[in-house]
Amino acid sequence: MLKNLTLHKVTNYEAMSQKAAEIFAEAVNANPTGSFGFATGSTPIGMYKALTQMQKNSQTNLSKITAFNLDEYYPIKANDPQSYAYFMAEHLFTETGITKSHIPNGEAKDPQAECEAYEQKISSTGGIDMQILGIGTNGHIGFNEPAQNLLATTSYVPLAEATIESNSRLFASPDDVPRHALTMGIHSIMMAKRILLLASGASKAEIIRQTIYGPITTQVPASLLQLHQDVTIIVDSDAAKNL
Ligand code: GLP
Repeated sequence: MLKNLTLHKVTNYEAMSQKAAEIFAEAVNANPTGSFGFATGSTPIGMYKALTQMQKNSQTNLSKITAFNLDEYYPIKANDPQSYAYFMAEHLFTETGITKSHIPNGEAKDPQAECEAYEQKISSTGGIDMQILGIGTNGHIGFNEPAQNLLATTSYVPLAEATIESNSRLFASPDDVPRHALTMGIHSIMMAKRILLLASGASKAEIIRQTIYGPITTQVPASLLQLHQDVTIIVDSDAAKNL
């Protein structure tokens, strides 16, 4: 395994969540007014719960950070319970008092202009100190789907069929899943000083193997992380079973 990658194999989802929260809290404690990048999906929910608890126990304080989210569906209303804006408020921002939060606007009239403005906001804060990532079963990070070409900066993108199908579990029907998204691009993600990627469950085992040991290919967007200087990957035993 490459030296710039640190791998933590832990027993289960709870251990993954706890370990991730500890690493993240340490980074926030070192820079309480820094910029931090957040992900959505089922994977980081336990980590966000653990961080909320740590803040209650005065082990960290997230309220002064600036938050940037990876992505948002498009179009979607911020108050739609399926939106990532709603998800972040519910799982982390409200309880920890994070008010300087940025999420691409799924209601923007001009998605292209929204992407440019979002990218500008990230760089105006001096960049992201630590970016949390989940991973799609097809290797997507954010909504950067496998493709012949990847996009560098925040972009308006179509969702892959596999992603629509896998995310449809959270919607009333697959037809309700938005077909597009606004997502930080590969450059936006790679510019983060540190990256913390979490994966849990057997459905992620093969893509985690390819991410860490496979060739670097745009067909597995997460494999590009092999080129980043400081990546920590935390996997539970099911996600680690092919390593
Ligand atoms: C979603 C998000 C990703 C997330 C991934 C995995 O579509 N855009 O940022 O990492 O899919 O989701 P889950 O954690 O639910 O497996």
